[in-house]
Amino acid sequence: GGDRPLAGRTAVVTSGPTHEPIDPVRYIANRSSGRQGHAIAAALAKLGAQVTLVSGPVTLADPPGVTVVKVERAEEMLEAVLARLPADIAVMVAAVADWRVAAANAEKIKKRPGEAPPPLLLAENPDILKTVGHHAGRPKVVVGFAAETQDVEENGRAKLERKGADLIVANDVSPETGIMGGTRNSVKLITAAGVEAWPDLSKEEVAERLAGWIAGRFSRQP
Ligand code: C5P
Repeated sequence: GGDRPLAGRTAVVTSGPTHEPIDPVRYIANRSSGRQGHAIAAALAKLGAQVTLVSGPVTLADPPGVTVVKVERAEEMLEAVLARLPADIAVMVAAVADWRVAAANAEKIKKRPGEAPPPLLLAENPDILKTVGHHAGRPKVVVGFAAETQDVEENGRAKLERKGADLIVANDVSPETGIMGGTRNSVKLITAAGVEAWPDLSKEEVAERLAGWIAGRFSRQP
């Protein structure tokens, strides 16, 4: 209760991109600043939760009062998240690369004049949110994000089901919105109960409201 309604609760949050190595100097990645995920970790901690933030490579400072585990690849991120289960809360915000290079080169691939570019064979990465949403140690509250450029609500609803999440925070990341890498966010909350649109907010405000929403889930019933 009070201003620390999440005291005694544990939370695991993912943030940032993952980097999937091609060779020791090259990688493939998604665009993600980590701003939203880091802000959520900070907001949950502010409400009293004991938070572990599993972060891919970002240039942000570690949020105050949060345990930060730094990873590069999706497989490392999954392992770090599973190591924190059971937990009460999971908020998966990371922009995980859907694919990794099937066999990353141990040595830098040499560019030889006149030779064809090397083909990249990809393998599917684990889906961290889906794994957590269907896990034996599933947190009571599992939250995922959906960055979409079209059919935001329909895709969000499908994702809720498929990933085993209680809430999907969906946003339109079309380039003209400036959300990717930006400081503001305009989201829709998709739950089994329906859709709630939030106004245009800073990522910190989205984080604070979301932490409040999560705290509300614990105060409702046992
Ligand atoms: O399927 P899609 O990537 O759109 O789903 C987005 C949500 O799933 C986000 O919450 C993201 O953090 C999570 N995710 C994940 N592991 C993946 C892919 C997505 O945790 N491999």
